[in-house]
Amino acid sequence: MCGIVGYIGDKQAYPILINGLKRLEYRGYDSAGISLLNNQIKVFKKKGKVSDLEESISNEDISGNIGIGHTRWATHGEPNDINSHPHTSMNEKFVLIHNGIIENYSRLKDKLINRGYTFQTDTDTEVLVNLIEYIYIKGSVSAEIAVRLALSKVVGAYGLAIMCKDEPDKLIAARKGSPLVIGVGEGEYFIASDASPIVEYTKSVIYLNDDDVAIVGKDGLTLKTIKNDKLTPKVQQVDLDIGEIEKNGFDHFMLKEIFEQPRSILDTFRGRVSIEKNEIHLGGLYHVLPKLLNAKRILIIGCGTSWHAGLVGEYLIEDLARIPVEVEYASEFRYRNPIINEDDVIIAISQSGETADTLAAIKLAKQAGATVIGICNVVGSSIPRETDGGVYTHAGPEIGVASTKAFTAQVTVLTMMAIMLGFEKKQISPETYKELISELNDIPAKIEKILTFNDKYLEISTLYKDATNFLYLGRGYLFPVALEGALKLKEISYIHAEGYPAAEMKHGPIALIDEKMPIVVLATKDKSYDKIVSNIQEVKARKGIVIAVVSEGDTVIRDMADHVLEIPETREELAALLTVVPLQLLSYHIAVLRSCNVDQPRNLAKSVTVE
Ligand code: G6P
Repeated sequence: MCGIVGYIGDKQAYPILINGLKRLEYRGYDSAGISLLNNQIKVFKKKGKVSDLEESISNEDISGNIGIGHTRWATHGEPNDINSHPHTSMNEKFVLIHNGIIENYSRLKDKLINRGYTFQTDTDTEVLVNLIEYIYIKGSVSAEIAVRLALSKVVGAYGLAIMCKDEPDKLIAARKGSPLVIGVGEGEYFIASDASPIVEYTKSVIYLNDDDVAIVGKDGLTLKTIKNDKLTPKVQQVDLDIGEIEKNGFDHFMLKEIFEQPRSILDTFRGRVSIEKNEIHLGGLYHVLPKLLNAKRILIIGCGTSWHAGLVGEYLIEDLARIPVEVEYASEFRYRNPIINEDDVIIAISQSGETADTLAAIKLAKQAGATVIGICNVVGSSIPRETDGGVYTHAGPEIGVASTKAFTAQVTVLTMMAIMLGFEKKQISPETYKELISELNDIPAKIEKILTFNDKYLEISTLYKDATNFLYLGRGYLFPVALEGALKLKEISYIHAEGYPAAEMKHGPIALIDEKMPIVVLATKDKSYDKIVSNIQEVKARKGIVIAVVSEGDTVIRDMADHVLEIPETREELAALLTVVPLQLLSYHIAVLRSCNVDQPRNLAKSVTVE
């Protein structure tokens, strides 16, 4: 949460910063701000979107070759103009932008107040910029030393970009807990929370590690630790195409990402699943395979949609490989004194690879001696760097805050893992192994077919866009899909929605059902089919509106439900990959019809880097 961008070089900084902020807006959109250093420090900041900032400074002098920009997801202090970043120190020597939380800010603030500092904002960040300035003036040290000394006093998480008025030939960046990437161009440098603002200028990047400080500018690049140990920068080539981070003619990123799923799933298993050779090869798990095969227990951890993917993973691994699996919210796991054994394998699932609770849970598991595997989308992010092995989902950048293609990519990875483990442990026959591989291979084409019914999803959305509550029901593999469908709807349309195991409906949610309540039932042909048909009858007996996702050609449910959404048949182990797609599109259309901001729903952020 919060997006950071910085530039120093020969070009005009402002266009690079404002475009960078637009690319990073998914990280937070409570306010935006830019600071330019051109003999003097200028700060422009505004509550609201990057476009509001842009409008508000249309008549200002925005020249300068050095600058920093920020898009905010508020933690300390309400989202208003004054609390927006960048923050300037009291004597206007320093200006900085920050992603993260300074946990001991209140103690530091008291000390600074005792030394005569006054504060304009309610933020933790203003404390840090003043602390840096205090050390700079009092100690007569360089900006870099002041930054490093100040950071040694800070408890918390940060990604920072800092400018000093007296040292206008450099930008200082520092990282602890919040991601930061340095772009290395020809005589120019970029700083950003991820590579998306950088790739149109250079593909050479350096991912900062925790406790790294980078100084970039006229004298090139210096990388060191907070303790002043020199580091050798590791320049990597980023494999990100600018087309991937644009809407490509779609109205919203979310819609584009839903429609990308046939391709993104293919990319997830490309080179890993071979029909010809009848094999699944996951290179990133090679070293940890013996641990996985001998694991007494697998623990899956994640947050939000990634946790839902984890639930599908539990069903898959227990069903196909017969290894006991537990799924936990990372935030619960890390704080509840869990039992972790050395022969446990932890699978951490995260689209961004930066979620603070998931990262902390990984560290806890590693301390206890467990083996940790990551399933992440963003290459080079923090989680893959902390794990013993892993599988990238390769879904491509996901910009819409509500996760769609990342979910199906995560489930695809878990499916490959479960099939592979099942086969290696001889829990599934060679015939079943072959059939599962072949079915997985057919999934992209089947999703393609589901997407051709988009008009039908729009039609149904039009009928129920004003509902105040939705219920989503599923059994077995489709229970996590019910949870995910409900999450998608509430995230982007602000309609209250609950996902439930269909049989549990009788223990509570049935009391909510009346003639106004749409109930989305996942009712494809599987071993629970007859049971779910009974659940539909129970809903109809209470006059609820049933929208059923069914297997192609199902006539039984067609006669009972108010609406049916047909999807191609598949094996039940793979049904989550198909059934979730109509739910994504229903949520999308309902949100658009309610004039909601689909890609940037209120209060949410794509990457939750605070605990
Ligand atoms: C936020 C996002 C969700 C995401 C969750 C976990 O809440 O809005 O879409 O599922 O974080 O994020 P991760 O990057 O760890 O998958």
